[in-house]
Amino acid sequence: MAQKPVEDLTENEAAEELARLAAEIAGHDRRYFQEDAPTVSDAEYDALRRRNAAIEARFPELIREDSPSARVGSEVSEKFGKIRHALPMLSLDNAFSDEDVRDFARRVRRFLKLAEDAPLAITAEPKIDGLSLSLRYEGGALVSAATRGDGTTGEDVTRNARTVTDIPNRLKGEAPDVFEVRGEVYMSHAGFAALNEHQAETGGPVYANPRNAAAGSLRQLDAGITRQRGLKFFAYAWGEASAVPGETQTEVVAALGRMGFPVNPLMARFDTIEGLIAHYHAIEEKRSSLGYDIDGVVYKVDDLALQRRLGFVSRSPRWAIAHKFPAEQATTVLHAIEIQVGRTGALTPVAKLDPVTVGGVVVQNATLHNAEEIERLDVRVGDTVKIQRAGDVIPQVLGIVPEKRPAGAEPFSFPSVCPCELKTEVVREETASGAQSVVRRCTGEFACPFQRREHLKLFVSRKAFDIEGLGDKQIDLFYDDPDFRVRTPADIFKMRGRNEAGLKKLKDKEGFGEVSARNLFDAIEARRTIALDRLIFSLGIRHVGEATAKTLARAYGTFDAFHAAAMKVAEGDAEAAAEMDALEDIGEAVITAVSRFFSEEHNRKLVEELVAELDVQEAEKPAATSPVSGQTIVFTGSLEKMTRDEAKAMAEALGAKVAGSVSRKTDLVVAGPGAGSKLAKASELGIEVIDEDAWFARIGRKVPEADPAA
Ligand code: IVH
Repeated sequence: MAQKPVEDLTENEAAEELARLAAEIAGHDRRYFQEDAPTVSDAEYDALRRRNAAIEARFPELIREDSPSARVGSEVSEKFGKIRHALPMLSLDNAFSDEDVRDFARRVRRFLKLAEDAPLAITAEPKIDGLSLSLRYEGGALVSAATRGDGTTGEDVTRNARTVTDIPNRLKGEAPDVFEVRGEVYMSHAGFAALNEHQAETGGPVYANPRNAAAGSLRQLDAGITRQRGLKFFAYAWGEASAVPGETQTEVVAALGRMGFPVNPLMARFDTIEGLIAHYHAIEEKRSSLGYDIDGVVYKVDDLALQRRLGFVSRSPRWAIAHKFPAEQATTVLHAIEIQVGRTGALTPVAKLDPVTVGGVVVQNATLHNAEEIERLDVRVGDTVKIQRAGDVIPQVLGIVPEKRPAGAEPFSFPSVCPCELKTEVVREETASGAQSVVRRCTGEFACPFQRREHLKLFVSRKAFDIEGLGDKQIDLFYDDPDFRVRTPADIFKMRGRNEAGLKKLKDKEGFGEVSARNLFDAIEARRTIALDRLIFSLGIRHVGEATAKTLARAYGTFDAFHAAAMKVAEGDAEAAAEMDALEDIGEAVITAVSRFFSEEHNRKLVEELVAELDVQEAEKPAATSPVSGQTIVFTGSLEKMTRDEAKAMAEALGAKVAGSVSRKTDLVVAGPGAGSKLAKASELGIEVIDEDAWFARIGRKVPEADPAA
């Protein structure tokens, strides 16, 4: 039937046709996106949408609430919605050598208290170089798809994911009622080449590599484009599950295959580390013929019960690791060795290189690590050097090409004083084992201009004070500018006052104006109110990163409490140190660093001056949702159902504090057989004592069958 031209439609006819089109297009969408069974060609479908759009353009007042044009189409420029992952999407720790892999296995065994010869099965599979995706199935149907995002919240790419043929819209066979399937979206080499060819012809953006192409293709506002890109998917993990279909990694991945997902054929299970490493090399051999990019091999403890016991550190599971492939290499000429002073005062020799392309990136600097490394490589100015770049890390110098050494090249002599104006003596710290560290440090700390400046950059960075309009460049500017002389964190908050009192105004400086000066001061003002964890992180204490700062903030709650504890630790108070030591992921290194930091007069002054400018917010204590949250617990005796590390990790994850000795502050003692003086002390103080079984009952967990001490 010939269609009436849109110009000839009456208002009534238009309204009727819009209603009909809305229903028809919705039907096609459902069959296409949800049932995986379209009944019209793409061209017919596009024609319907065009007709709908044309009628809407002529009769805008007739646009329906359920109009198909409001739901899709590249013209509808709506950002992706957000999806909160029911369980966070984690990242993986990296291993770069066989030794790192052995260390991983040792750590696992130590945590689980497994003997060196006790069986421990570990899987190995390619690490796909794409982007991870979480697919949520309810009642067997795909209900949402989300990118990893920050690990907690990702982008809603459901419509796009439905167009990927590797991703089933319905799970086959038996599937859990709720099941979040996770895996990697990627583009094959062939798909990538075809796409870039097409892009070049049509003047679209050409992608740098298959990974970028996959990410760009998945995150299209018009799902129709995603569909044309031929994205692929491998399932390798899962999130929330009403029932996990298997007891090992191998079993669940097999179940994922039966449900309709592509799973990687190179995944295998090994009982020895040698087996894993051999498989790593076998995969590496096949790398170039796979037809898609991989950047390493992922190892996972096979037994899910063991995975649960191992749990997580920060954002990575203890039960998995990524063994990365070695990086790409090139040779070039080293024309200078420069000594840089880092934020922590460490002196790092940097090789200044003639620019060279390594794996698609131009490299001009490479790290030489330390004096020993320079000596070991016998690298001299003028040498031709071999360099390598691995992932995002700073390029490294691997060695020299001896036959290309120019005549008269002198060995490099490492400076014994800091290149800063203080010319402080360079010191070497002692390592935990008492040996001299290879790291040379300037002792000037905040008095050293290199460290101060770097410290200020950290201070204003995104994870610290995150002051809009105040980045590295502005710090350099204000640091050197005699009218501002921003040399300490407190100086930042004094800037506006000084600006108002001073003769030279920021608004008159080059690069600034009335508005930008005001905006900057307003942005600084806005950060006078600051979360405790950000404040702690921003102090730049060695070993106190973002996660540790969060732990400290949550544990102490207020700045005053944290400060008091830190000062006590600095004064050598054993109890305060033990209390800090009991916190999750905090150990000797952090405590020593906190102690050193607060022992320094100029650091104390710096913190004092800064805090006087601020309104520090109280940290949220962990939600009191577990039966033991907020309690101080002591584990004693020989534990038979869990290792001590596990017990500590478990209690802390539930919001409890674990202490090493029984005192009036103890709320609960969990005693295994053979408990002695601590048990006696507990009964003397009238503190509740329970055994391991009662502990598991209290926290609502099954008593593990395995005996970790066995
Ligand atoms: S497992 C809890 N397996 O690597 C562990 N990840 O660096 C979850 N990746 O974000 C990840 N191939 O995007 C796992 N076979 C594989 C993988 C893989 C690629 C990616 C994934 C993850 C990243 C971590």
